[in-house]
Amino acid sequence: MAASHRHHHLVLLVLSLVASIASAHNITAVLDGMPEYTLYNSYLSQTKVCDEINSRDSVTVLVLTNGAMSSLVANLSLADIKNALRLLTLLDYFDEKKLHSLGSGSELTTSLYQTTGEAAGNMGHVNITDLRGGKVAFASAAPGAKFQSTYTKRIKEFPSNLSVLEVSDPITFPGLFGSPSAASANLTGLLEKAGCKQFARLVVSSGVIKMYQVAMDKALTLFAPNDDAFQAKDLPDLSKLTSADLVTLLQYHALPQYAPKASLKVTKGDIPTLASTGAGKYDLSVVSKGDEVSLDTGVDKSRVASTLLDDTPTVVHTVDSVLLPAELFGGAPSPAPAPGPAGDVPAAAPAPEASAPAPAPKAAGKKKKKGKSAAHSPPAPPADSPDMAPADAPAGDEADKADTKKNGATEVAMTFAATVASFALAAASFC
Ligand SMILES: *[C@@H]1O[C@H](CO)[C@@H](O)[C@H](O)[C@H]1NC(C)=O
Ligand SMILES: *[C@@H]1O[C@H](CO)[C@@H](O)[C@H](O)[C@H]1NC(C)=O
Ligand SMILES: *[C@@H]1O[C@H](CO)[C@@H](O)[C@H](O)[C@H]1NC(C)=O
Ligand SMILES: *[C@@H]1O[C@H](CO)[C@@H](O)[C@H](O)[C@H]1NC(C)=O
Ligand SMILES: *[C@@H]1O[C@H](CO)[C@@H](O)[C@H](O)[C@H]1NC(C)=O
Repeated sequence: MAASHRHHHLVLLVLSLVASIASAHNITAVLDGMPEYTLYNSYLSQTKVCDEINSRDSVTVLVLTNGAMSSLVANLSLADIKNALRLLTLLDYFDEKKLHSLGSGSELTTSLYQTTGEAAGNMGHVNITDLRGGKVAFASAAPGAKFQSTYTKRIKEFPSNLSVLEVSDPITFPGLFGSPSAASANLTGLLEKAGCKQFARLVVSSGVIKMYQVAMDKALTLFAPNDDAFQAKDLPDLSKLTSADLVTLLQYHALPQYAPKASLKVTKGDIPTLASTGAGKYDLSVVSKGDEVSLDTGVDKSRVASTLLDDTPTVVHTVDSVLLPAELFGGAPSPAPAPGPAGDVPAAAPAPEASAPAPAPKAAGKKKKKGKSAAHSPPAPPADSPDMAPADAPAGDEADKADTKKNGATEVAMTFAATVASFALAAASFC
């Protein structure tokens, strides 16, 4: 009896997984194949705003045509573009019908920008107003904001979940753009202020700070252990590491890609770090559960605690523990000499001297530029830069085909549940 009950629970679990996959949307897929929105779509991917949109249940995306988008992005950093896209994402479902039947002709709603913590007061709220003549317009609720963004047409509606509408102009307000940028941020100062003094000290004394700075120009995710992490009782004595191993350890705390928390949450499997050799060595594995994201090194697990800086294409997170790569701390016979920077052939990589300018990792091609962050040219390349997901995930609707009557065998149900869950994850990590 008990066993048969368990079957039922498993079948229900499987069914609810199937249901949640069926309702999951994919904003970039919706806009794919619509040539008038390619620029918008490309920036959704570059800024990873697509991950934030796809994780919401009930959402309205206000889309700009290539023309409107190219004048918006002309002089903006990626960080500013990200904020513009977030302000165009409303956290409620508005289709054409609802826009034309607003109670008392106007409604205040929340945008994704309001959830960033960067929005002062109600600047991230959007006032939707039915203007005279049947025109519907959008403006930030910030003082001084203008109703310059008007509804032009519907693009796609998935009732009560996702509405994709075209609008004439971006929603802006004075002060939206020109957010302090990573390029001007003093990384060491930022780390010290946030209680990661020990990490900052190592990064500077080893010279790895230079590698980080070079990578920041292209894409960088940094996991900075806080000072408590260096006090942990079971932490191996890091002062015993050779300077080459220390460099590797610090490179292991960074990814050559832009991965804000929303994107880490939908990441599945191993991701390369700046220390990765390309053969799966020195990769990190991401584990997420609800809102919690952890990194698994094979030796230890560390929670991603907070985000100190999110300025596309650079993001700095704090973590609760020092990330100990199995290749250095696996306990097995002493590992091979530390590899050089990412992608190099491990053989004969000379150990960089402490505090000597370290060689640039492969992932960071260009020279460090001074000035504003994220210099980029407007017609963006198709966005799938370094991807976190393994290739060719099966489509979510595979799951629909599953025969739920299949049987009660616990094993089968469990295998199926696992498969469905991995489909869901794999599917979600694309956007
Ligand atoms: C919308 O989402 C709900 C649950 O969130 C789901 O039941 C429904 O099937 C979804 N509708 C569409 C059209 O995807
Ligand atoms: C961008 O900046 C340049 C130089 O500051 C200026 O000449 C140009 O008009 C600006 N373009 C837009 C669209 O604001
Ligand atoms: C939206 O803005 C208009 C014009 O400023 C204002 O009259 C209206 O009260 C606002 N609506 C809401 C719901 O705040
Ligand atoms: C960055 O901050 C650190 C500590 O706050 C300071 O020692 C260093 O001079 C600063 N570097 C720059 C370039 O401002
Ligand atoms: C989402 O769309 C992209 C293309 O825009 C596609 O590559 C990816 O497989 C889609 N993900 C899902 C879950 O279908």
